[in-house]
Amino acid sequence: MRIEGKTFLVTGGASGLGAATVEALVGKGAVVVVADRNSDAGAALRQRYGSAIEFIQADVTSEDSIVKALDLAVGLSGTFSGVVSCAGVAPAERIFGRNGIHGLQSFRAAVDVNLVGTFNVLRVAADRLIKRDRTGGEEENGVIINTASVAAYDGQIGQVAYAASKGGVVALTLPAARELARHSIRVVTIAPGIMETPMLLAMPDEVRASLAATVPFPSRLGKPQEFASLVCHVIENPYLNGEVIRLDGAIRMAAK
Ligand SMILES: NC(=O)c1ccc[n+]([C@@H]2O[C@H](COP(=O)([O-])OP(=O)(O)OC[C@H]3O[C@@H](n4cnc5c(N)ncnc54)[C@H](O)[C@@H]3O)[C@@H](O)[C@H]2O)c1
Repeated sequence: MRIEGKTFLVTGGASGLGAATVEALVGKGAVVVVADRNSDAGAALRQRYGSAIEFIQADVTSEDSIVKALDLAVGLSGTFSGVVSCAGVAPAERIFGRNGIHGLQSFRAAVDVNLVGTFNVLRVAADRLIKRDRTGGEEENGVIINTASVAAYDGQIGQVAYAASKGGVVALTLPAARELARHSIRVVTIAPGIMETPMLLAMPDEVRASLAATVPFPSRLGKPQEFASLVCHVIENPYLNGEVIRLDGAIRMAAK
């Protein structure tokens, strides 16, 4: 699918991997609706990209919020063609840690944002893509890109909630792609390794250096632009479907 002239929704687009995705899509001539719960980011994004973006404060766990965000995307001038789900949280908590037993509420909260939120965006986006008028004779109708994590496969100690939430995103990819195939909609998930986003940049230098040393090659943290470049490739390559792509420099995370 060509990116130019299309409209995409990017959740979590105010920061990190989502923000790099917004930049890449705008750079290729797309109109982007940024849906993020961080309302302060809206004005800054507007100043940077002008009318190439619309910002809407949204919580991916809320049905109402995501319906509003997608209706905004569908109503814009470009052809609404898909979503990139980057909104997520990365809590760390042990099953039996210093402060006792893992909270049930904190487990639910991680699953709610990372898994239920991703599914919420996917299902409303699919509905809007299926119902929209198809013009231009393109082979496909839309593309839905989710963000998991290598923690879905090699979750570390303290990542039970995070790994479970991302494992759910990995697992829903194939059945969603199979079901939406008859509507010419693709579903692909990217599972990043350790990426240089605000979350990671907040860590002390020595912690970042030791994390980077665990990556076989290139032995450094991944750049958000490398994630964004893969997003663009997934959109542009119609034969990628139903797949989870690790983007991780061959890292296999240790237990801790
Ligand atoms: N950075 C990494 O190393 C890494 C590795 C693997 C996977 N990931 C995943 O990539 C995604 C992006 O991570 P990042 O590193 O860019 O994080 P980030 O914290 O820089 O950005 C996440 C964005 O999501 C938004 N957000 C959080 N909860 C939300 C909600 N309920 N509704 C709407 N917006 C919400 C935040 O406001 C923020 O702008 C996440 O799903 C994360 O789990 C990140």
